[in-house]
Amino acid sequence: MSTVVALDMGSSAIAGVELKTGRDRVSLTKAAVEPIPHGLLHDGEIQQPNELAAELKRFWKAARFSGRRVRLGVANQRVVVRVIDLPALDDERERRAAVEFEAAEHIPIPPDQSVVDFQPVMRYEGDSGPRERIVVVAAHREMIDQLVAVVRGAGLQPVGIDLEAFALLRALQPPASVLDEGSPDTQAEAVVHVGAEVTHVIVSVDRNCHFTRMIGFGGEQLTRAVEQRTGLPREEAEAVKLACGLLGTPMEGWDADTVAEVRHALALGARPLVREVSRSLDYYRSQPFSRGIGRIVLSGGTSLCTGIDRYMQQGLGMQVVVGNPLGQIDDPGTVPPEVATRAAVALGLALDAPGGAR
Ligand SMILES: Nc1ncnc2c1ncn2[C@@H]1O[C@H](COP(=O)(O)OP(=O)(O)OP(=O)(O)O)[C@@H](O)[C@H]1O
Ligand SMILES: [Mg+2]
Repeated sequence: MSTVVALDMGSSAIAGVELKTGRDRVSLTKAAVEPIPHGLLHDGEIQQPNELAAELKRFWKAARFSGRRVRLGVANQRVVVRVIDLPALDDERERRAAVEFEAAEHIPIPPDQSVVDFQPVMRYEGDSGPRERIVVVAAHREMIDQLVAVVRGAGLQPVGIDLEAFALLRALQPPASVLDEGSPDTQAEAVVHVGAEVTHVIVSVDRNCHFTRMIGFGGEQLTRAVEQRTGLPREEAEAVKLACGLLGTPMEGWDADTVAEVRHALALGARPLVREVSRSLDYYRSQPFSRGIGRIVLSGGTSLCTGIDRYMQQGLGMQVVVGNPLGQIDDPGTVPPEVATRAAVALGLALDAPGGAR
């Protein structure tokens, strides 16, 4: 039985999960989400490394995770993802050389300052022989070094770093069935993960990432919209946002006028989200390799805003559902949905561990 712990540090909270993997079962043994002070991370980038390391140390101790080994995710403007097409090569070394050569054209980070990784996602017959579509990820080395330093500063040992987008696909999408995998008829699916400050839009086919973009929008903008419209102080604006959502029966304690005001503020405040998601999907659709997008799966803290799925469905004119990040775990235990959706990235990172890969 192997144990894997993965962490996702966001602008509002740290999320962590512990999975135990037996011969053919994956069990979730711990999951925790704890708030951290504002300003330690911004748009996925570490702003205050020492304070963050101290928060991480506290978090780890309180959650009582096993050992010190941890898997981490990255997603910010200093990580670039591109999909490139190359003649298919079977020799791993030749392929890497070809990818690195081609990547230099597409990736705006000088090679001596970047860490490059890649994943072949499909093969197809081109005009002059077999070709391969490859997702290339390049990250600023300095940003990765800083992340590693923070985690080591908390007394932990990083044992793997992956793109948050890949982790989300593992958590939220079932593996393609052997029969359907690689079929040109398979539709694409989008994952939209809305946190406190950022939103990730990911388009995948057969659970492979074909496009990803980060949008500078999150629940924080919605709280600010409520604050501005109602004049309530921030803490109260946040509380009333959680209590009302966009639809449904609001929690008790708020009068009908306030609820109507808050919902109006949320509906106006969420417009940029719909606009930017729509733009991202249009960009994906404009690419020569694109497929029709069947539906959108939502996750992240802001997906807990009641009615946001309906709101986005109307705005985008396509099916939108709230995802279940525990869907790939055989024994999910009793994790409340609000913890699971905020820990979706951590869950996906943990699922990638050797023996835990799904
Ligand atoms: N029930 C709810 N209704 C509406 N919004 C909610 C609810 N619960 C949490 N949120 C919002 O979700 C956000 C936090 O989500 P999450 O934990 O995914 O963010 P994060 O990972 O810290 O941020 P980021 O990844 O953007 O840096 C906050 O803006 C919070 O207000
Ligand atoms: Mg997050």
